[in-house]
Amino acid sequence: MCGIVGYLGVRPATPVLVEGLHRLEYRGYDSAGVAVVRDGDIVVTKTAGRVRDLRDKLADNPATVGIAHTRWATHGEPSDRNAHPHLDATGRVAVVHNGIIENAEQLRAQLTADGVVFVSETDTEVLAHLVAREDAATLEDAVRAALRGVEGTYGLVVLDRSRPGELVVARNGSPIVLGIGDGEMFIASDVAALVHHTQQVVFLDDGELATVTAEGFRTSTVEARRTSKTPTTVEHAADDYELGGHTDFMRKEMAEQPEAIARALRGRLDERFATAHLGGLGLDPMALRAVKRVKFLGCGSAYYAGQMGAALVEELARIPADAEPASEFRYRNPVVDPDALYVAVSQSGETIDTLAAVQELRRKGGRVIGAVNVVGSAIARECGSGVFLHAGPEVSVASTKALTNMTVSFAMLALLLGRVRDLSAAAGARIVTGLRALPGQVERVLADDAEIARIAKRYAHARHMFFLGRVSGWPVAREGAQKLKEISYIHAEAYQAAELKHGPLALVDADMPSVVIVPADDLVAKNIGTIEQVKARGGPVIVITNADLPDGLADEVIRVPRGEPELDPILLTIPLQLLAYHTASALGRDIDKPRNLAKSVTVE
Ligand code: AGP
Repeated sequence: MCGIVGYLGVRPATPVLVEGLHRLEYRGYDSAGVAVVRDGDIVVTKTAGRVRDLRDKLADNPATVGIAHTRWATHGEPSDRNAHPHLDATGRVAVVHNGIIENAEQLRAQLTADGVVFVSETDTEVLAHLVAREDAATLEDAVRAALRGVEGTYGLVVLDRSRPGELVVARNGSPIVLGIGDGEMFIASDVAALVHHTQQVVFLDDGELATVTAEGFRTSTVEARRTSKTPTTVEHAADDYELGGHTDFMRKEMAEQPEAIARALRGRLDERFATAHLGGLGLDPMALRAVKRVKFLGCGSAYYAGQMGAALVEELARIPADAEPASEFRYRNPVVDPDALYVAVSQSGETIDTLAAVQELRRKGGRVIGAVNVVGSAIARECGSGVFLHAGPEVSVASTKALTNMTVSFAMLALLLGRVRDLSAAAGARIVTGLRALPGQVERVLADDAEIARIAKRYAHARHMFFLGRVSGWPVAREGAQKLKEISYIHAEAYQAAELKHGPLALVDADMPSVVIVPADDLVAKNIGTIEQVKARGGPVIVITNADLPDGLADEVIRVPRGEPELDPILLTIPLQLLAYHTASALGRDIDKPRNLAKSVTVE
């Protein structure tokens, strides 16, 4: 979603800001803008459209301080007028903002009554007017005073033309990270915009402000209490955010899966005791044994990965487990079980609904750990303990390698929970071996690319598709449908295979292909029955399987290697990524930036 970049230093700010915005494009946006201070004035350039359109509009400018933004519309349509940065009425203060000001309407009404004329429909413009009205000794004090009356979430940067040597940033619910350079400072909402310049970063906490100059920064709380921050070194290099010869990031990230899985497993599997080591959980064997139940909470595909995790925990540890969409959790006044282990699942670590679920759990005394990819992210920090996914930076909106690593991490969690209970050493060893085999097996599925591309092309004309699965195949089917919808815009619905005949079967005809997930488990015969029901009504069938099936059963069969049955969902998901990818590609879609979607969903 929205992206922020800021710069203060010795170089012309505009190219640094535009390059930073380019690196945040993957988050999804609809308009972009830049503000720099030149000859004592703030010069703002904005456009509804892409960052490249903004770049074409920008004149050469020697200004060495500036702020920039990519906007994903929430209040008001995507337009030049609504794009950030926003100015106060005198043009002295400019603001870029991520998040949502919840009492914006009320603040707008008060300001309007005081004679302020708004030029945009945004909630952000309120902030520019509020800061400019404060009669304070420092810009930081003005921002602090303005924020006292503000409710909602923000990551923001404020530029004041009368103090061009500093920028003030503040964070509440939307990330802000400072990048430390040599005589220059960078500001962003995401490290992706900084790693080209520095790997020394400081993450602001909620309720913190910072005054940033070219020489450094000082932080304090909204209540004006000084805080001290220790810079951290980000692992990722600038290359991690480059295509490196691939046509798009989704393709690159799918190809990286064998390596990403190997990274997630590194140092965590214990052959001797046939278990896993997950030191980040902070749970000793007694605490692990005390867990009576596990609940996974995530949104979208992270929720489906959580469903796969719940199945693994039930299977290997024999304790009740389930998954729930994090977006619903806090609104249904959940009963928080003190004996349960809650797992917040998120690639970005920024998803606001998942973060809110974690906060609700903590408020009610629940024990929550994170399964998060982005180190230093809000969910990782709010949880304080958990499992990092180690998938490496994921840029494409359609998540692939991070989801795979979620399930791999849940398999290790389930193994660990199982081995402090009744899972035998032999069964544990089987899972360890199965996990070790995964990178090579995923490699083999990926090698089927051309064949899956052929199948995708054959069915790319379909307007609707079913994805069907039973038990362990059910979350796989859900994830397959999700991937197809997201990037190809084909309507795809996932059903538990047995539910088909209770209604949806009425939709099956020659124009409604079904993708059926058939793991080599006890339910193969049932799944064959489902396929026959679809075929009998003229519906084309694509099967994803590692089972032995009768010849001629389906129109297309995509095979994956047979591994340990509990890990089947991981392998069965990979062809569905390729199927969605090649369908979207055949339809000429913008694969990395599907319409209407954002990589990190930081608004409700
Ligand atoms: C996955 O392909 C989707 N883009 C989406 O459903 C995503 O999984 C969801 O928004 C959760 O994101 P998170 O993992 O960053 O929390």
